[in-house]
Amino acid sequence: MKADVVLGLQWGDEGKGKVVDVLTPGYDTIARFQGGPNAGHTLEFNNEKYILRSIPSGIFQGNKINIIGNGVVLDPALFKAEAEALAKSGHDLTKRLFISKKAHLILPTHRILDAAYEAAKGDAKVGTTGKGIGPAYTDKTSRNGLRVGDILSGFDSKYRTAKAKHEKILSDMKFGYDITELEKEWLEGVEYLKKFNLIDSEILVNDLINNNKSILCEGAQGTMLDIDFGSYPFVTSSNTICAGACTGLGIAPNKIGEVYGIFKAYCTRVGSGPFPTELFDEVGDSLCEIGHEFGSVTGRKRRCGWIDMVALKYSVMINGVTSLIMMKADVMNHLDIIKAGVAYEIDGEIIENFPYELDEHVKPVYKEFKGWNCDINDIRNYDDFPAEFKEYVEFIEKETGVPVKIISVGPDRDETIMR
Ligand code: GDP
Ligand code: IMO
Ligand code: MG
Repeated sequence: MKADVVLGLQWGDEGKGKVVDVLTPGYDTIARFQGGPNAGHTLEFNNEKYILRSIPSGIFQGNKINIIGNGVVLDPALFKAEAEALAKSGHDLTKRLFISKKAHLILPTHRILDAAYEAAKGDAKVGTTGKGIGPAYTDKTSRNGLRVGDILSGFDSKYRTAKAKHEKILSDMKFGYDITELEKEWLEGVEYLKKFNLIDSEILVNDLINNNKSILCEGAQGTMLDIDFGSYPFVTSSNTICAGACTGLGIAPNKIGEVYGIFKAYCTRVGSGPFPTELFDEVGDSLCEIGHEFGSVTGRKRRCGWIDMVALKYSVMINGVTSLIMMKADVMNHLDIIKAGVAYEIDGEIIENFPYELDEHVKPVYKEFKGWNCDINDIRNYDDFPAEFKEYVEFIEKETGVPVKIISVGPDRDETIMR
């Protein structure tokens, strides 16, 4: 059976965690394919709330196999904290969580390097989550990385070598730090990791596919944060796009089935970087407040704005999205007018294709919609939505050429409409 993919089409935090949880009953296996603890995936059900960072969002329904793939970067200390908290709340994962031996490790010094590089960039900083993501992926591509499998043999000397390289860089940068506590927790995390099934997960994944089992691949971040196609350099350091599921799990491209692209009915971004449809007025403030738009990992305020169809169409193209999933339209219930960016004006010229650079010259051109101006949170059938809401959904379908198959109208698992 082909593997399906769930991924974000904007700047992350679209609601991937909720959707993966909702879709989990239909799959045998859920697998994360990239990113690391920079992710914060929120799930709400039965009056409980969980935020997952490195662990896939398929752990709560039906004892499914969950996999952390080779494309993920794993911080053992943060992983331990996350897995222990879950075990405490009754979700012991040691038997059903499988971790790729080829996943790269985030070292304590990667976190310090992340802070040092950000400080060195000054005003041009990316606004990273500070979790060492960039430095860990840098070591992976420069062939200096440590992998999960390395903790099983010859670990001490490999760790010392890697740490010494980082210490040299930090010393050259004259960046002060204290690694003692971080390193202690990290080494405890390394020991803890050994309790789990550390495997060549690409073999398991392909065995499952060949045995007609269904796999849902869970993305982190979003297409606008992709290292190749996002708003570079204000991006993360992995391929967040559909192709990342192939490289991050060892799935051949012809084994990818459905591609679910998730987007918010408006748009948010956390950290620095361009955001053409960003709002700086009371409408933006209301989206932030009603949508609780604060980072689930860093607590930072998320910047809010209108949906950007130029960027969304680009994301749909890059990922080969087959079904769209619209989140958080309920956050716009109070608005009389809703806008959608449909083109960019760059130095007087109207452009509908996504440009090389999203700089300050890029101004959005908007189409206006009448708001539905009522509470939609209790609606569970598409037919029951107000006409203005349907007009907005059908506009997005027409523009992208992709059906909106799932609509989410609240954070809870049950606040979901399947079409
Ligand atoms: P992820 O990183 O893509 O998994 O998304 P996050 O969990 O970081 O952010 C999404 C936030 O929106 C979380 O707080 C969710 O609980 C919440 N959420 C998800 N879907 C909806 C929805 O349809 N309506 C509202 N109001 N909140 C939602
Ligand atoms: P989820 O999976 C939103 C952003 C950071 C920063 C940039 C680079 O929850 O959607 P990094 O720490 O990755 O080097 O930071 O990417 N960023 C996210 N923004 N949601 C995320 O994950 C993000 N992960 C990273 O804010 O701008
Ligand atoms: Mg998030």
